[in-house]
Amino acid sequence: MNVLGIETSCDETAAAVYNEQGLRSNVVASQSIHVQYGGVVPELASREHIRLISPIVKKSLDDANLALEQLDGIAVTYGPGLVGSLLVGLNFAKALAFANAIPFVGINHIEGHIFANLIDNNNLDPPFICLIISGGHTQLVLIEEFGKYQTLGKTRDDAAGEAFDKVAKMLDIGYPGGPLIDRLARGANNKFISFPRPMLNENNYDFSFSGIKTAVLYYIRKLEASEIQIQKNDIAASFQAALVEVLISKTIAAAVAHGVNTIALAGGVASNMYLREHIEKQAAQMNLKLYIPLLAYCTDNAAMIARTGFYYLNHHITSPLSLSPKPSLKLNTV
Ligand code: KG4
Ligand code: ZN
Repeated sequence: MNVLGIETSCDETAAAVYNEQGLRSNVVASQSIHVQYGGVVPELASREHIRLISPIVKKSLDDANLALEQLDGIAVTYGPGLVGSLLVGLNFAKALAFANAIPFVGINHIEGHIFANLIDNNNLDPPFICLIISGGHTQLVLIEEFGKYQTLGKTRDDAAGEAFDKVAKMLDIGYPGGPLIDRLARGANNKFISFPRPMLNENNYDFSFSGIKTAVLYYIRKLEASEIQIQKNDIAASFQAALVEVLISKTIAAAVAHGVNTIALAGGVASNMYLREHIEKQAAQMNLKLYIPLLAYCTDNAAMIARTGFYYLNHHITSPLSLSPKPSLKLNTV
């Protein structure tokens, strides 16, 4: 079954093909137009999607060596995300499916991030705990079966990726901030400043990152510009260590409390090297199996959408062509 996946929920225009042999193609165009504004400009994102969607989908079919007629299904993100961006991918997918009489399924972007763990291996079986950490979402989820998710906790303010992006802005190092802080922090002193670890020892699985962010802001405010330049690697490393400690601690605690021996990461922040290294060590110490998607499948991509679509279409689940974008779509909860 050849499934085309399309993803346009934010500022990546992406298409990919997945079948039982695995991933056949994976094309992502990250829109660079937003860099000059230090964040995604929704109207510009929609226009870029319109410009890019056709050539990106064509390239994904060419790379997979497939003609349109050889597709057995089309999967597309229908939420959550920016409504104008979602509309472009969703309408493109619906038109393609209708005109060629191909089965069609709408995919929840957050669920797609979870399925990124299944692109290169089929051994991840529920139950497992998944920490979903992206630019817009931070959620700790118990997956009892695919399609049904129990949210154990979520952020009460900023998403993890958002905190990275905001601290990067304070340090004036560019956008998107996550990968830049990750790089800046390598080899730096993460004990330079002891930033707060909000909600670390509370008996729940919620997160709060605005306190760490504000602590960084207050610290930076006291410095001269030249001091910020000298200290920025250590500030980045200290911030990252504080945030990652909370993420890992709550994920492992959730696994232990629910008697689950497998944990997984998902979303853009899962590409963070410090997090990957440390959670690997701690999961091993606790005898927990750990799954982390390959770097290319952590940040937004269509491979994860094609993979999720492959799962649903194999279970004969499709969507009506009347499906509309859902900017605030949540995970299906039990
Ligand atoms: O999943 P994603 O690509 O898009 C959303 O669905 O939001 O996540 C993007 C977020 C951004 O906030 C970005 O700064 C963050 O993921 N990110 C990282 C890293 N790479 C991307 N954060 C920390 N370390 C990274 N290496
Ligand atoms: Zn995402």
